[in-house]
Amino acid sequence: MKVVIDTSENIARLAAQQYKELLADKPDAVLGLATGSTPLGLYAVLSNMCKAGEISFAKAHSFNLDEYIGLDGNHDQSYRYFMNENLFRNIDINISETHVPDGISSNQQNAADYDKLIEEAGGIDLQLLGIGVNGHIGFNEPGTPFGSLTHIVELTDSTRQANKRFFQSIDEVPTHAISMGIKSVMHARSVILMAIGENKAQCIKDTLEGPVTEQVPASVLQLHPDVTFYLDHDAAKLLTK
Ligand code: GLP
Repeated sequence: MKVVIDTSENIARLAAQQYKELLADKPDAVLGLATGSTPLGLYAVLSNMCKAGEISFAKAHSFNLDEYIGLDGNHDQSYRYFMNENLFRNIDINISETHVPDGISSNQQNAADYDKLIEEAGGIDLQLLGIGVNGHIGFNEPGTPFGSLTHIVELTDSTRQANKRFFQSIDEVPTHAISMGIKSVMHARSVILMAIGENKAQCIKDTLEGPVTEQVPASVLQLHPDVTFYLDHDAAKLLTK
């Protein structure tokens, strides 16, 4: 495991370099993308680099981690909308090569079709992750089996409370989501996990220094052969090793 600790601005720049190198080497790379406030700095850097001609996504493919059940892509809190606004419309990616799980038509029976789609595209080269305060990755809440593929999840109260800031009220926060599973994430050839802010300090300590346990979904990354953690000083402040 590689751990990079720097300011939030610098970790966004450093992570962007990893994309630049990957796409220079493999222009048609398959990117696993994430939502949340954490990747916004990275997406801004990538957008600027693309405008400056320093990076191109023209041949790349992307697969997002998750989506709320019940929201269609036009809903301003859907993850499809988030991706279009914060990244896709600012870069040269072919929008038909961007994939976000469907919040309307997805169900427990067809959810794992998403993994087949990823496999058909050649598998994910670089998976980006944020982390929930309870250690979740994607929407894989504590207790999710490490063997899970893309599936429908019931969101925990803690996650709904954390995400309610984007909605008018807690009642509007969806109760379910579709999320790539832990096994789907672990299949990626390389993984980046970014964390910013003091409220992530405990889950980052548990993820990096605690036991590998389904109670802390991100702790599974200790078993991944190529993972880089990009942390700001606040998120890293409880690390001792
Ligand atoms: C959501 C997303 C996660 C994300 C997490 C943290 O629950 N499903 O993928 O990592 O929020 O979000 P933030 O980066 O806003 O703290």
